[in-house]
Amino acid sequence: MARPKYAVLLSGLIASITGADARSCSLVSTPGQVGVIPKWDVQSTSQVTTDPLALAKPGVDTSSWHHANVPRCTIMACLLASPDFKETDTEIFYSDNLDHFDTDQFRVPWLYRNEFALKPAPGQHYFLQTNGITSRADVFLNGKKVADKVLQSGAYGGHSYEVTDIVNRTNAVVIKVYPTDYFQDFGVGFVDWNPRPSDNGTGVWREVNIKQTGPVALGPLRITTTFDKPVGQGSAVVTLKATVQNLENKVVTFVADGSVGSIKLTKSVTLQPLALGEVSLQTTIDNPNLWWPAKWGAQTLYDAQLSVSVDKTVSDKTEKKFGIRQVTHQINAFNDSIFSVNGRPFQVLGAGYSSDIFLRWDTARFTTQMQYVLDMGMNTVRLEGKLEHPEFYEVTDRLGVMVMPGWECCDKWEAWSYNDNIENPAVWSDADYDTANASIYHEAATLQTHPSVLMYFVGSDFWPNDRAAAIYVGALKALDWQLPIIPYAARKDGYPAIVGPPSMKMDGPYDWVPPNYWWDVTPSSDRLGAAFGFGSELGPGVGTPELSSLTRFLSPSDLSDLWQKPNASVWHMSAQDSSFATREIYNLGLYGRYGAPEDLDDYLLKAQMMDYEATRAEYEGFSALWNAERPATGLIYWMLNGAWPNLHWALFDYYLHPAGAYFGTKVGGRTEHVAYDYVKKGVYLINHSLDKAGARTVEWEVMGLDGKSVVKGTVATTTVPNTSKSVADLSKALGSVKGVVFLKLVLSDGKSTLSRNVYWLGATVDTLDWADSSWYHTPVSKFVDLSGLDKLKTAAVTTTVLPGSGGLKVVLSNKATVPAFFVRANLVDSAGEDVNPVFWSDNYVTLWPGETLELDVSYAGGKAAKVQVSGKNVAKAEVAVP
Ligand SMILES: *[C@@H]1O[C@H](CO)[C@@H](O)[C@H](O)[C@H]1NC(C)=O
Ligand SMILES: *[C@@H]1O[C@H](CO)[C@@H](O)[C@H](O)[C@H]1NC(C)=O
Ligand SMILES: *[C@@H]1O[C@H](CO)[C@@H](O)[C@H](O)[C@H]1NC(C)=O
Ligand SMILES: *[C@@H]1O[C@H](CO)[C@@H](O)[C@H](O)[C@H]1NC(C)=O
Ligand SMILES: *[C@@H]1O[C@H](CO)[C@@H](O)[C@H](O)[C@H]1NC(C)=O
Ligand SMILES: *[C@@H]1O[C@H](CO)[C@@H](O)[C@H](O)[C@H]1NC(C)=O
Ligand SMILES: *[C@@H]1O[C@H](CO)[C@@H](O)[C@H](O)[C@H]1NC(C)=O
Repeated sequence: MARPKYAVLLSGLIASITGADARSCSLVSTPGQVGVIPKWDVQSTSQVTTDPLALAKPGVDTSSWHHANVPRCTIMACLLASPDFKETDTEIFYSDNLDHFDTDQFRVPWLYRNEFALKPAPGQHYFLQTNGITSRADVFLNGKKVADKVLQSGAYGGHSYEVTDIVNRTNAVVIKVYPTDYFQDFGVGFVDWNPRPSDNGTGVWREVNIKQTGPVALGPLRITTTFDKPVGQGSAVVTLKATVQNLENKVVTFVADGSVGSIKLTKSVTLQPLALGEVSLQTTIDNPNLWWPAKWGAQTLYDAQLSVSVDKTVSDKTEKKFGIRQVTHQINAFNDSIFSVNGRPFQVLGAGYSSDIFLRWDTARFTTQMQYVLDMGMNTVRLEGKLEHPEFYEVTDRLGVMVMPGWECCDKWEAWSYNDNIENPAVWSDADYDTANASIYHEAATLQTHPSVLMYFVGSDFWPNDRAAAIYVGALKALDWQLPIIPYAARKDGYPAIVGPPSMKMDGPYDWVPPNYWWDVTPSSDRLGAAFGFGSELGPGVGTPELSSLTRFLSPSDLSDLWQKPNASVWHMSAQDSSFATREIYNLGLYGRYGAPEDLDDYLLKAQMMDYEATRAEYEGFSALWNAERPATGLIYWMLNGAWPNLHWALFDYYLHPAGAYFGTKVGGRTEHVAYDYVKKGVYLINHSLDKAGARTVEWEVMGLDGKSVVKGTVATTTVPNTSKSVADLSKALGSVKGVVFLKLVLSDGKSTLSRNVYWLGATVDTLDWADSSWYHTPVSKFVDLSGLDKLKTAAVTTTVLPGSGGLKVVLSNKATVPAFFVRANLVDSAGEDVNPVFWSDNYVTLWPGETLELDVSYAGGKAAKVQVSGKNVAKAEVAVP
């Protein structure tokens, strides 16, 4: 059901908000200060006849333009932020409305304009600094052209233009942005992840700054740390570095002052007229407090400052936080990547991050997303392109989430003659290589000091050609890059010699595969995405939101199609021209394994069961096989989150509501865990910690749908550092099982339960047809029969909600003689709306007859009113929050 097409209001009705206050208060007033252009008036060139040079003069009336009160926005993000624009996210994302939004209006250049005040005086210098404008831009200031679209090109092309001779007390800046075609321009694209944003991400999506300095200016601060002994055993040598430029046509002598924490450093330097130089200050820190990934220790950050002064007056200054840590990278005997952090082998358990579809940034939202990453037991996010703002890395530094940044695939960034994913790739021109150079310089300078950065990918699906690779590596080295540089995230038949051979796999899957897929490893390693090596993007494609989220963006007919038209194209899946525009492969599995759903509720519950099983097995497989004969060295789940409200490829939905895929991951990602191997029917002990030690007990029990114990056992064991191991073989115990059974695994240290977890298993596993695999999935020729779950007798579960530490405690008790299967608890406010974000210790749990489980839940804000409880064989109930 489509709603009427949108018409865009092109003439604003709101009076100009470029008021006198904005123009009179100087954007910057001291040397070293950086001011952000705080907001933009935005208009299409189809509506403006005035020449940009004339528009870039103070006093032009832009009251009829759109007024985006934000410092950075793509055109779509600016429009959505403008009071005159009547559409909202709710409407744009509803059903297929985005498909009807007018994209033609973005085929012409648009204008961004702002006026700001400065107090220029002799001896002061001013710079206009960009951080990337999509796809390219002409920049005008006070009636002069500062940069043209050849130089100011690319989403990451950041430049610093000296504008000392142009600035005045009142200044007008105009930026003319040119349309983006992902195959011709260096944009931020989403490939097949989702429909394209209507404007292809065009615009001033990153801040434009004005910087003031004295006669000497500093470049970005770089910080290196080197160690005399193995990390953690001795001291660290910390070096602060930056380029320095004499902006005056006379010799200058200046003093560079640096500090690292409370340590002060100083040096006197002389520069020839207009010369460029380098300043470097060094110190040694004994027994430094190391920065660690979250699971392994503290995220200690040090403050570093660098300033240059001429005649005792500060001329420029810069400061950054940094962490002392070391990352190393090895390629093992199987040619697979293994990273180490501070000398400890670091198994990457991560997921692919997506920006917002309109590239909007919200630090609080991002912080929640990273808290979710840690809550699920992961340690890393990958950025395939989508390199965000500096705030991104400030959050990951603070929380201890590692980041794998790099360029994106499938468009201009990888337009190589040998890239068979792109039809007629537009061969790079000399100017394109310059854009690539500016891009890597800018991004590397942003990333260089952040301890959460693990490495850099100079390619994604394909390797860069030798000329591009030399530019990337040259820039990284010039900026003191100390981290591994990886050629690309796949393994094909080429690589740039300057970077070295590939060491990761990108062999799928991207669509649904059954849980046994991950465990199906063979000595010949021919099982694509199964748990061996380093998988740079792989997953069973799941992440179905619950109904409370779905009703926010699906129409009633979209909802009924979900379960009644299982093969239909769905707008809220991937891009319509991609292999993921339908839920056919997923639904084939759901209907084949669990039986045809009776209604939408039944479909969604079965979907949550599928999603949970799917993610749990992937994380368990990789965790358990970390020290297998061919170790599973890393996993990037495809994907962490959606750019918009979507139905798959996400571990939590767009509204930050966690469901089955989230809690499956959270179980599979537990620091200490005990997991079931669907193929060998073994039980694996997993230990991702650096220090948790001691004796452990594993208890296991198989139970029928009738609640009768089939077989059970106990194993006493100890774990071994850096390994996981098989502690029990259940093949005999499960050998005679007919129909569906439950398997409960419990790990304890004698005092408390460290991990508890229930599987539902059929008499067989799904039969994978490996020979018919495609790049995105491996089909199942015979599904496991789990339809017996539909016949479970009803279980009465009581729910008690108590105050808990930092939130609530929800006590579930199964009063029945049969298991209470897949019980979900959901926190809602008095209006019945989900409380998001929300952190549950566990959820979607299965209780043995007579068993009681306590779930802890914490949440931000004080709106929680009720806990809703329901399950496969548990009636819906609601309990008030005390
Ligand atoms: C600065 O503005 C004043 C008027 O406000 C003008 O007279 C002067 O020429 C301007 N200076 C420059 C460098 O454009
Ligand atoms: C966006 O880019 C695609 C190519 O990736 C192009 O076909 C399309 O016309 C562009 N859309 C706009 C509005 O420029
Ligand atoms: C690893 O890669 C090298 C080439 O870089 C190749 O000679 C060698 O055979 C590969 N080893 C394995 C186990 O594939
Ligand atoms: C890349 O940019 C840097 C810094 O602007 C410059 O010094 C260098 O010469 C450029 N390299 C190439 C290959 O263009
Ligand atoms: C969906 O497609 C599958 C083949 O992939 C087919 O077996 C099934 O019957 C189709 N279902 C419907 C409802 O059309
Ligand atoms: C830890 O395990 C990994 C993967 O099995 C292995 O490559 C590495 O050498 C081990 N490191 C130590 C210190 O045992
Ligand atoms: C888990 O491994 C670490 C080293 O990685 C080790 O110190 C610790 O003792 C192990 N835990 C258990 C329970 O054995």
